[in-house]
Amino acid sequence: MNHKIAVIPGDGIGPEIVAEAQKVLDAAGKKYGFEMEYTKVLLGGASIDVHGKPITDEAIETARSSEAVLMGSIGGDAATSPWYKLEPSLRPEAGLLAIRKALNLFANLRPAYLYEELKAACPLRDDIIGSGFDMMIMRELTGGLYFGERKTVVEDGVRKAVDTLTYDEKEIRRIAVRAFDIARKRRHLVTSVDKANVLDSSRLWRAVVEEVAKDYPDVALNHMLVDNCAMQLVKDPGQFDVILTENMFGDILSDEASMVTGSIGMLSSASLNETKFGLYEPSHGSAPDIAGKGIANPIATILSAAMMLRYSLDLDEAADAVENAVKKVLGEGYRTTDIMSEGCTQVGTQKMGDLIAQYI
Ligand code: NAD
Ligand code: IPM
Ligand code: MN
Repeated sequence: MNHKIAVIPGDGIGPEIVAEAQKVLDAAGKKYGFEMEYTKVLLGGASIDVHGKPITDEAIETARSSEAVLMGSIGGDAATSPWYKLEPSLRPEAGLLAIRKALNLFANLRPAYLYEELKAACPLRDDIIGSGFDMMIMRELTGGLYFGERKTVVEDGVRKAVDTLTYDEKEIRRIAVRAFDIARKRRHLVTSVDKANVLDSSRLWRAVVEEVAKDYPDVALNHMLVDNCAMQLVKDPGQFDVILTENMFGDILSDEASMVTGSIGMLSSASLNETKFGLYEPSHGSAPDIAGKGIANPIATILSAAMMLRYSLDLDEAADAVENAVKKVLGEGYRTTDIMSEGCTQVGTQKMGDLIAQYI
């Protein structure tokens, strides 16, 4: 069986980590009898360099006509990269937002769990980690501040910038339904995170989430203010099952959650719409500070590829095999620098990919 996959290597460490994910997918294909047909798509800086803009209609169409998209990460160092001399709508990040919107990828799943093997890389004390944690951050991805009207003007000689945060009830309901559906397959607890003590958009969020919860009497719901949530993530990460939150809060909280798993290099993600289609990318960025050094951790991308096997291609057995191979490699003490700890064996990006592929 062949699967049509669009591949966006992107910028910085993107091409390095995507190559390892493809290596692992190909190894899984050999074992489980499928083959990936990859079509390369330019996005972000890589697209600017060729087309003068961060995304093209052709890129969106190639993605749309594939079963799924596997992506690295896009963007550069804003202080030094020429991409950031362009107007904001032509910068790398605009390409990523455009593809999310064009493909209606409103549900962003970012699973954060602690591998027993990575306890030493977690910055939290043993008594806080307790028996570990396993949460799914459900981030709304096509609304809120990211997609509201924005402008920069000069009024009476004073520079003024405006960003608007809008949500309608349909946008809130569909991500909430996803969160409750997922909670049903997990530990039956949704923590909805908002800033309802200040924002109207959060008050609507809370009201709609309460309405959705009525259809899920078997799932417990609690609400938490986002500032408290940021604190609770390091005080007691084990309390969370599904965290449901809007776009910007989810962006920030998922980076925070990633660090308690050991490193941002571990946090995978899936961006889904109402169909089986999805875009799979690590939660981290293009890490310009380590690009080209061969030291980036490819595990977040490899685990994102496993999510692709599971959610878009119905290849659960192969997805399990990839996840187990990651666990095995970690269990044997192999580490990239970001998760390195005493007594472990330090390996580079390619070696980490080789080992995981080998253990499939
Ligand atoms: P970043 O996530 O790229 O890097 C933050 C820190 O984490 C850096 O020190 C980096 O070296 C480290 N890091 C990230 N991924 C790693 C990995 N796999 N292995 C080891 N270390 C890793 O965030 P940033 O520096 O704020 O952003 C850099 C660029 O990436 C910006 O242009 C930003 O817009 C872009 N970005 C893109 C995405 C995406 O494509 N989805 C996500 C986040 C940031
Ligand atoms: C992410 C990134 C993006 C976001 C940026 C690059 C636009 O930080 O995927 O988490 O904020 O969504
Ligand atoms: Mn982010």
